[in-house]
Amino acid sequence: MARPRLNSGDSHSEDLPKPKLNKELLKKALHIFSYLKPYKGKFIIGMVFLILSSLTMLTFPALLGAMIDASQGKQTYTWLPSNIMYIGGLSLAILSVMSIISFFRIRLFVEIAEKSLANIRRDSYMKLITLPVDFFANRRVGELNSRLSSDLSQIQDTMTTTLAEVIRQTISLSLGVLLLVWVSPKLALLNLCILPILVVTAIVFGKYIRKLSKQTQDQLADSNSIVQETLLGITNVKAFVNEYYESQRYSKKLDNVVTLAVKGATFRGIFASFIIFCIFGAVITVIWYGANLVSQGEITVGDLTTYILYSMFVAGSMGSFPELYASIQRALGASERVLEILHEKTENIIISEDNKTINKSLMGKLTFDNIRFAYPTRPDIKILKGLSFTAEAGQKIAIVGPSGAGKSTIASLILQFYHPNEGKIYYDDIPSDSISLTDIRNQVAIVPQDVLLFGGTIRENINYGKLEAGPDSVIDAAKRANAHDFIMSFPDGYDTIVGERGVKLSGGQRQRIAIARALLKDPSILILDEATSALDSESERLVQEALEELMKNRTSIIIAHRLSTIKNADSILVVDNGNVADFGNHFELLAKGSGLYHHLYTLQSSQQVES
Ligand SMILES: Nc1ncnc2c1ncn2[C@@H]1O[C@H](COP(=O)(O)OP(=O)(O)OP(=O)(O)O)[C@@H](O)[C@H]1O
Ligand SMILES: [Mg+2]
Repeated sequence: MARPRLNSGDSHSEDLPKPKLNKELLKKALHIFSYLKPYKGKFIIGMVFLILSSLTMLTFPALLGAMIDASQGKQTYTWLPSNIMYIGGLSLAILSVMSIISFFRIRLFVEIAEKSLANIRRDSYMKLITLPVDFFANRRVGELNSRLSSDLSQIQDTMTTTLAEVIRQTISLSLGVLLLVWVSPKLALLNLCILPILVVTAIVFGKYIRKLSKQTQDQLADSNSIVQETLLGITNVKAFVNEYYESQRYSKKLDNVVTLAVKGATFRGIFASFIIFCIFGAVITVIWYGANLVSQGEITVGDLTTYILYSMFVAGSMGSFPELYASIQRALGASERVLEILHEKTENIIISEDNKTINKSLMGKLTFDNIRFAYPTRPDIKILKGLSFTAEAGQKIAIVGPSGAGKSTIASLILQFYHPNEGKIYYDDIPSDSISLTDIRNQVAIVPQDVLLFGGTIRENINYGKLEAGPDSVIDAAKRANAHDFIMSFPDGYDTIVGERGVKLSGGQRQRIAIARALLKDPSILILDEATSALDSESERLVQEALEELMKNRTSIIIAHRLSTIKNADSILVVDNGNVADFGNHFELLAKGSGLYHHLYTLQSSQQVES
């Protein structure tokens, strides 16, 4: 079976194609059920309760019929005395037992489903955050998120209610039909004649109505995504004065929704009135014919009552099956999507408390040996074409080059987010595949091009560099990153909430937080990707000071556009077209009198003189 693509835009699980029930799918679904294993005992007890309550429910029509017969002095069953009080009391007793059983059943099933679902959630989340970076390149965060939320709640619904319902309704349907025949074979035969008409129309109409309602849902989802897009990019909408355009776009979608919904409602209406006609027609026919049978003395009034009650049970079960079937299909589709995550191959990292323990300390020497690399998503575009360089432990190496040359890509490779197609990266002369991923990442820190802070306090964001660091170390790191003063200027200081629901920090402030975080981590290799790009001259001086502090005693890889910031680097690596265009320190490269660095430098210094 082909793996479904994971890039469907909207994250409504109802919109995704429902898989046909087949063997392979069921096998997969069984895997999800393996999460029930730890609760096997409770599950079996729940099942027994479920069957018991379904069976006891079926006794009521017989008891009620017998009670009516008893009122006329007739005895329906030899084992049941024709005494109204006795039968009424017995019914109440059975009802009480059934209620208690139902309580325990629901309680048990919900407990099992919640617990096993939490385990699935835990596992999927664990899986997600340990997957390699390129897994996320193909997926939208919203979609992955919806797997953890809506797909799993779909499965939860199935585990808690659908499964129980299927069993209950199957029992009620099959036993109910048998009981109908037992009460009155003649009436049952009459009912069976109406059945095919109902089933056929239900199938034909049902299919059509479902198609229409799916189209309506799709259009509604489209219109919702318009709302979402425009609200997220509201400043864009306003800046380009596109309010009218967007409102037209939205209103057109809404018109479609209404047209489709009304069309659907027409068919639903026809269908509903037809079904009502059939059902009440059947009821009238049964009572009519039943009344005849009663007057001929073939059955009693109690029998007729029993019969009608049983046929209501049977009709109810039949009516519930299409919905149950659809719900199972949805759950299977959902489990398929969740299992896909659970079966992905993770990165080879340690996931435990001691994943911060460094087994092999690195001095910080870094070597790229003939690295060739293309991103897995775009294998035909070669980003690095045999790039080599060495940074000795403690050196400052600057990387410069045109935009898109692959500078940030080099940073990702050092962090082992991606692996080279050819060539090897050495840390302290040890090839990367001989050192554990956690050892490498624990000793490399990056101040990225665009700093993303987590929602939470400033303190928490700095602490992220070293979770066990105390408040004093956090403040010390912030001071060394020149961030302390602006942090203290906020009323809440280090407890200021940042991110979506808090204070928006400026680009330069975010960078200084990221620098503090990196300082706290105290890595052997430090990568600065355009760390001073978002700053004015004054803050650049502050950040530059912070960076000088940060770069002490470790290997630093500095990616920079502004060449003035890298004059005192030990070596400058000029990257162009996937290769090393030049290598040497500032003065060596300038002394050449030609080359990319010379060109860029003269360009930038002349601009500075002009301004
Ligand atoms: N995740 C990715 N998947 C596919 N291609 C990518 C990915 N990230 C970057 N690229 C491509 O790789 C090339 C190098 O990108 P990179 O970010 O390394 O450039 P850069 O030198 O850092 O540029 P800048 O100076 O603008 O930051 C670009 O052509 C870019 O389109
Ligand atoms: Mg970059």
